[in-house]
This record gives sequence, structure tokens and C-alpha cells, in this order.
Amino acid sequence: MHQCRAGTLDLFNAIDYATFCHHAHPDFSPAGWHLGHIAFTESLWLLERGAGMPPMFPQYRQLFVADGLPKTQRVNLPPLAEILHYLDTVTAKVLDYLETVDLDQQERLWRWLIQHESQHSETIAFVLQLQQWGIGVRGSQSRAEVPSVERTGVQGLGSRLSPLVSRLDEMIEIPDGYFEQGNECIDALDNERPIQRVNLETYCIDRYPVTCGQYERFIKAGGYQNPNWWSNAGWKWLQSQQVTQPLYWSDHPCWTNHPVCGVSWYEAEAYARFVGKRLPTEAEWEKAASWNSETKVQRIYPWEEEVLDSDRCNHDNAFSQTTPVNAYPNGQSAYGLYDTLGNVWEWTDSVFQGYEGFASYPYTGYSKVYFDGQHQVLKGGSWATRPWALRCSFRNWYYPSVRQILAGFRCAK
Ligand code: AVJ
Ligand code: FE
Repeated sequence: MHQCRAGTLDLFNAIDYATFCHHAHPDFSPAGWHLGHIAFTESLWLLERGAGMPPMFPQYRQLFVADGLPKTQRVNLPPLAEILHYLDTVTAKVLDYLETVDLDQQERLWRWLIQHESQHSETIAFVLQLQQWGIGVRGSQSRAEVPSVERTGVQGLGSRLSPLVSRLDEMIEIPDGYFEQGNECIDALDNERPIQRVNLETYCIDRYPVTCGQYERFIKAGGYQNPNWWSNAGWKWLQSQQVTQPLYWSDHPCWTNHPVCGVSWYEAEAYARFVGKRLPTEAEWEKAASWNSETKVQRIYPWEEEVLDSDRCNHDNAFSQTTPVNAYPNGQSAYGLYDTLGNVWEWTDSVFQGYEGFASYPYTGYSKVYFDGQHQVLKGGSWATRPWALRCSFRNWYYPSVRQILAGFRCAK
């Protein structure tokens, strides 16, 4: 809990009040709201529901409860110092309670709260990053204008594209057979449970996420003007949006080997059709990332060892931006896929639904209310994903129209 909190608070170093309150992306609340919501949620689940205490700071409930106010009305926030006081006061009580609580009974709830904070922490990182880049909702400023790994030379990641691996469009064949999908460990969220045995036909999947360099060919070939590549829903979306490139797009060569990001599911789907491929289903993605077909063992991470460190993938705000898609050879899956965890979330062709035997935890509003057939699953985490929310079984979901700085994709066939 301390480690998770330290990373959350680090994000607010040198953030002014205007940035703290700014509604930077239509689909996401201001950074400061998330901080208050983290305090509220911890207080609700651990102090009220767990310890049976009366609500702390009841005046904040309406503002910071998940379904209290529309996102546009979350811009009038108390100052950072006041929200920090709220957070610190709640957390001090929580740590007192931890001294006496029966963790055999409550471990899952406490771990859920760490993951809840982790997820809001990721959104905070992304909402702040938008503003640091000086990008508005429909910004056109080049990503290359910002201080980047390439420009500052941090670890030289820009030039770390291995010459041995130059075929970025390479696909890996995954032979038919079963694998185990989902997760039942203590950390597993309700939507990851229960583990299920899934049979898949043989398919091919991209070894790397789609890069900016690859995506640029789609733009230059008039992909955004050609209805052939788009589904009906996608074309309709495109006409209503007048979009001609990904959000935050830059054609600066320094991004060529970075994954494309800032695309909606519709754009990902259209690109896949353009190159004669399709998006993978969630099961196809998860098998390719986590299954060891030789030992018939499901891995929590793509690699064999059950450790997550900075050498495996780009996560936890290590660079606060993307890295080239083959910068992490130590992060390969058993089948040889790169970059399945970290860097960018990957859109899949699967609609978000509960697995057979699903049971809500800790409340239906966590997952179940999103089983409405309207949300697409994303897998794998991003450069801002905290370690507690990074694993092959983790499921994220957004409307297909959401253009997220943290979301890219890879293709299948
Ligand atoms: C799974 C990332 C879509 O941030 O809205 C946070 C996670 N649920 N608080 C979100 C979540 C409740 C959720 N996502
Ligand atoms: Fe929440």
C-alpha cells in the first residue's frame, strides 16, 4: 500500500491547481478528482464496510463517489493540500485498522483496494501527461515536440531497436489446442474469474504491436478516406468525428518504431482490414501472451519467472511515454511475442463480458454494469500501468469510440 501510494503521489509533484482541476480528455475526470476518489473508496470499503466506522468527511461523498457527479462537474475541486489531508487522514485510520483486522477474512478486499488505486493512478498519469504535452482535446501538436527519451537520450531507448529483429510485420503461428484463460489468485479481480479451459484453432498473431511507421502507410494510402477498410459502425463514427489520424499523432521519425497509440477501436479495426488481417480475440491475445504449450502451464506474466521488473517491459511510468516495440527482449512470451505487457494497451476484438461462473466483487459497479455489449476488451497494460494491475489475465475495457493515448493494438489472422 505504501509503495502504491508513493507512486500515486509522485505524479502530483509540481502540478499547479489549474492542471489539477482541468478536464483534459472528454472521457476522463481531472487528475485531482481521482486523488479524492482514491481516498473516498478506501474510506468506504475499509473503514465503513470493513471496520464499521461512520463515514469520514461526509461532505466529500457526493463529489468523490463514482456515480455522484458528471465528469464535467468534477472541475471545482478542493486544493491539493486539502485532498491530501483527506487522503492522509483516511490512510492513517486504515493503517490503525490494519493492526487489528483479520486479514484471513479480508485479504482480497485490501488487495482489491491496491489495484483500485493502481488503476486510478494510471488515469492520473495519462491525464497529466496530456497537459504536460500541451495537447488539447483535439490537439495537433507533435509528440516529437516534447522532451522524449530520444531527445534526452535517457538510456538511448530510441536507438535500441535491435538490428537482428527488423521484420516488424512478422507474425507468429499459434498451433491449435487448449489453454487456460483467466486467473483465480488472491489478486484476481471479479472479471478474471473463474479460470476456464478454452480451445482455439490455429491462428497467427503479430509479434509486435503495430508501430507508427506501419500505421503511417495506412494514413498515406488514404485509409481515413476509404470506406472499404471500415466497418459500418466505424465509418459512421469516422464521419461524425472528421478524424484523419490518431489523436496525438506525429510523423516525426523518432516515433517510427514506437507503437501507434491514441486510436479508437474503430481505427484499429480499419487498419487491420487494410493490411489483410483482423484484431485478435481476447482469448487469442491471452494464449499468445501467457500460455506455455510445452509445459501446459499458464503464466502470470509472459516470461517464466514470476517477477516484474523494469527490464521486462515499459510500465509504472518508467519513461512516462512509449518505447520502441522491440526494446524489451526479456519480456517475450513463450511463443515469442514482444511487448504484450506494458507500453500500450491493446484493443481486442472481444466484447467485455463475464466468464461463465462470474460473481461480482466487491460490487456490481466494478465490472458487471459494463457487461452491456458496448465495451471492447483491452489487454496488457501501458507505460503508466502500476505493477499491481499488470498481468496477462487483466482485463480493461472502453467504448470502441474512446481514443486513448495509452491504447494501441496488434493484429491477427
Ligand atoms: C477498468 C480502468 C475502465 O477506471 O473506470 C476504477 C477501473 N473501476 N474504479 C475505470 C475502475 C472503478 C475502470 N477501468
Ligand atoms: Fe474507482
